[in-house]
Amino acid sequence: MNDRGYYGGFGGAFIPEILTATFEELVDAFDGARSDPSFWTSYVDLMSTYSCRPTPLTFAENLTSHFGGARIYVKREDLNHTGAHKANNVMGQGLLVRRMGKTRVIAETGAGQHGVATATMAAKFGFDCTIYMGEVDVERQRPNVFWMKRLGAEVVPVREGTRILKDAINEAFRDWVTHMDSTHYVLGTACGPHPFPRMVSYFQSIIGQEARRQILEREGRLPARVYACVGGGSNALGIFSAFLDDPVELVGVEAGGRGLDSGQHASRLCSPDASIGVAQGYRTYFLQDDDGQMRETHSVAAGLDYVGVSPILSAHRETGRIRFEAATDREVIDAVALAIRKEGLIPALESAHAFAQAFKEAPLLTRDDVMVINQSGRGDKDIFTVADAFEDPEWRQFIIAKGERYRA
Ligand SMILES: Cc1ncc(COP(=O)(O)O)c(C=O)c1O
Repeated sequence: MNDRGYYGGFGGAFIPEILTATFEELVDAFDGARSDPSFWTSYVDLMSTYSCRPTPLTFAENLTSHFGGARIYVKREDLNHTGAHKANNVMGQGLLVRRMGKTRVIAETGAGQHGVATATMAAKFGFDCTIYMGEVDVERQRPNVFWMKRLGAEVVPVREGTRILKDAINEAFRDWVTHMDSTHYVLGTACGPHPFPRMVSYFQSIIGQEARRQILEREGRLPARVYACVGGGSNALGIFSAFLDDPVELVGVEAGGRGLDSGQHASRLCSPDASIGVAQGYRTYFLQDDDGQMRETHSVAAGLDYVGVSPILSAHRETGRIRFEAATDREVIDAVALAIRKEGLIPALESAHAFAQAFKEAPLLTRDDVMVINQSGRGDKDIFTVADAFEDPEWRQFIIAKGERYRA
């Protein structure tokens, strides 16, 4: 990265002039924290006493014998407090907000995991909190909205544009411009203007540091491949970062939605529907048409349903260091079903993209090979979507009965 936040030709900070001083303050605070060894120590201490770190690395014995190929391990980010890797980033940013002396945090959220994690952090640190969420996502992730409100956050449904994650990000930036003195924007992924990609991946690097140590302890060797799903890119960068200099193949899995040919997907790094552009404050691959208008995206997983992607991942795509693939909604639902039945793991729909790709490749590797899948989150939040996909008649009856009870 250069000092203006560019990774190859990607990244940068395309921000309104009014935010320049706020960004400079953030860069200074982050650089100060990074060069202060006690900051990382207090971060690790907080995460180990509040969020189950180090998260375990689980050997998936049954899946391994099912596929008859590589030995499959799962890094259990689902066991973080609030159920996903999002906690790593928000708790780190919370410590930074305290260092900067600000009192209010705002955030965007898609799947709701980042919103719940931010609201939780705000409750713990005593900050005021506002969460922006596209109206479509409010409907598909209602349980998370419920918890954000209980945690004391104001949840603002965004009715602009396509009413999903990118629109929530736009609204959060609008808020920040008017409240920058008191407020920090807790961006939820490794996207957006510099220093967010660097800062978010710094906090998420704890995943990779642990996973590398754990696999060496368990297997005495490095994995052949590591898999992670890619929304904005934070969990992928988090686990990949520790293996970048190793002879390990890194595989990022995007949302193939209804298929890459259908136009209904959210694949920016392996689909011809994406091209390089500048939006939301940074330069990267965006799903956009020839006029630079953002395309509609689709994924069964709200957290992957985003038009842009981390500039750091775009740079790794150009060098070929990371391979990118896409898994379809159907493959993802099948992967969830298999992980549940074979291992008792309930991956979030987002994480299940990584599982789906790993399942395609496990039989092609030998029994001496090891693979690690990053389970970025737990699937409890997806119960409505997954139950619909499984066409579970008893669940349907339960929902109808509940609806009737409310109507009565
Ligand atoms: C469980 C889970 N995994 C993955 C993601 C995708 O985000 P990222 O690519 O930043 O890890 C999300 C986003 O909401 C999520 O909730």
